[in-house]
Amino acid sequence: MILETRGIGKTFGSVLALREVSMGVAAGQVTCVLGDNGAGKSTLIKILSGVHQHDTGAYLVDGKEVRLSSPRDALDRGIATVYQDLAMIPLMSVWRNFFLGSEPRKGLLPGLKAFDVAKARRVAREELRAMGIDIRDVDQPVGTLSGGERQSVAIARAVYFGARVLILDEPTSALGVKQAGVVLRYIARARDRGLGVIFITHNPHHAYPVGDRFLLLNRGTTLGEYAKADITTQELTALMAGGAELEQLTHELERE
Ligand SMILES: Nc1ncnc2c1ncn2[C@@H]1O[C@H](COP(=O)(O)OP(=O)(O)OP(=O)(O)O)[C@@H](O)[C@H]1O
Ligand SMILES: [Mg+2]
Repeated sequence: MILETRGIGKTFGSVLALREVSMGVAAGQVTCVLGDNGAGKSTLIKILSGVHQHDTGAYLVDGKEVRLSSPRDALDRGIATVYQDLAMIPLMSVWRNFFLGSEPRKGLLPGLKAFDVAKARRVAREELRAMGIDIRDVDQPVGTLSGGERQSVAIARAVYFGARVLILDEPTSALGVKQAGVVLRYIARARDRGLGVIFITHNPHHAYPVGDRFLLLNRGTTLGEYAKADITTQELTALMAGGAELEQLTHELERE
């Protein structure tokens, strides 16, 4: 496991956002985090990515317990997060967005300070191509790309800047079937390049084809983490749909 949580918990005031959640991601694997609105998915990834800190339980990176102080801290450990709004500037070109706000690690591109445009263009073009992303012209504004293409650029950027773990918060939720398929392909490609991917989604049909492990959340509690061999798409869908009922049942049983 590159990254692991053991019984992690988080409260916001009186709201228990997460309770006793255990999960992990290994290199070259995709862990899917599934759950309905308010399940705690974003809270979990914000802890993983250094935005929030957990109140209880343990968070381990490379087997060592950590407490990340900021997203920068996470990034320095190779944990990159792609949020739904993507933090891109629509009117800026693809290549400029590719380098936006990501200080190159290990001085890969010191030339960019002097604004080595030709090099930046070339790197962006090559990196996108290496991910199998076909963008006609890296000079075109990011705003002219489809939602799926934009997600793909964000994924390629994180891979290029040295991510070992890629966290994707609902990258397919705003997309149509075809565009979602495109993004799922890049998730698989990042996995094949050896990254650990954490893929957050509402949709078991998006999760199942690319996922190796599945963590189900319901109102902040876990309904279990399953390896692919131990669960079918049908079971995953049923668990998602049945989460609320299951919780009700648990409460009733506890009362007895
Ligand atoms: N900063 C915060 N302050 C107070 N409450 C919060 C905060 N962040 C999240 N919560 C609460 O924690 C719970 C889990 O929210 P979270 O955003 O993690 O859910 P989610 O699974 O990502 O939902 P969605 O699918 O809608 O994105 C919710 O009840 C939410 O209102
Ligand atoms: Mg969310």
